[in-house]
Amino acid sequence: MKVQFDSSRVELVQGDISLQVIDAIVNAANPQLAGGGGVDGAIHRGAGPSVMEETRARYPLGCPPGDAVVSGAGMLPAKYLFHAVGPVWRGGQQRETELLRSCIRRCLELALKHNCTGIAFPAISTGAYRFPVDLAAENSIDEVVLFLRGQSSPMLVRFVLFDAGTYGAFARVLESFVDR
Ligand code: APR
Repeated sequence: MKVQFDSSRVELVQGDISLQVIDAIVNAANPQLAGGGGVDGAIHRGAGPSVMEETRARYPLGCPPGDAVVSGAGMLPAKYLFHAVGPVWRGGQQRETELLRSCIRRCLELALKHNCTGIAFPAISTGAYRFPVDLAAENSIDEVVLFLRGQSSPMLVRFVLFDAGTYGAFARVLESFVDR
């Protein structure tokens, strides 16, 4: 599914984010940048050890929730990895939504800064971090569209959703943006 917003585009695909051929791939990382399962596991497996070596050296203090840091992409077919730290869902009263939107915005800012014309996001926080998928879809897409409408250089933002349920949740939200 693809929707145009001015000169930019948001698209949804179902698949494995570590296989995307695009300027920047977003990792769903933890604050220690220590690697893990899910997206993090797939990305580090595909990228090889150079990425962890780089993030250890450049970000010894890790990265707080709501923020993102950049590294090379190792053996992955991308120029950059943006390691975004989403919030752990704790019921919704711990600024979870704000932190999710903020780590997405940081990735988009990093994309602009590094002259990326394409960026692929996973459904940050909706796996091990248990953020409700519908709420994540609404806020992730809204934050992206808000950003794209506020800037002039064209960008492709691709959400790569692993399973059909997550794809469906994102598709319902993106559809609702067509007439907004
Ligand atoms: N490609 C795309 N999406 C994937 C992939 C993949 N290869 N693997 C899993 N997913 C999906 C999950 O199904 C979920 O919808 O990505 C979404 C995010 O799940 P997680 O990877 O668990 O990310 P998150 O919820 O943000 O939790 C982050 O998990 O792996 C650890 O180190 C990571 O501690 C951190 C935490």
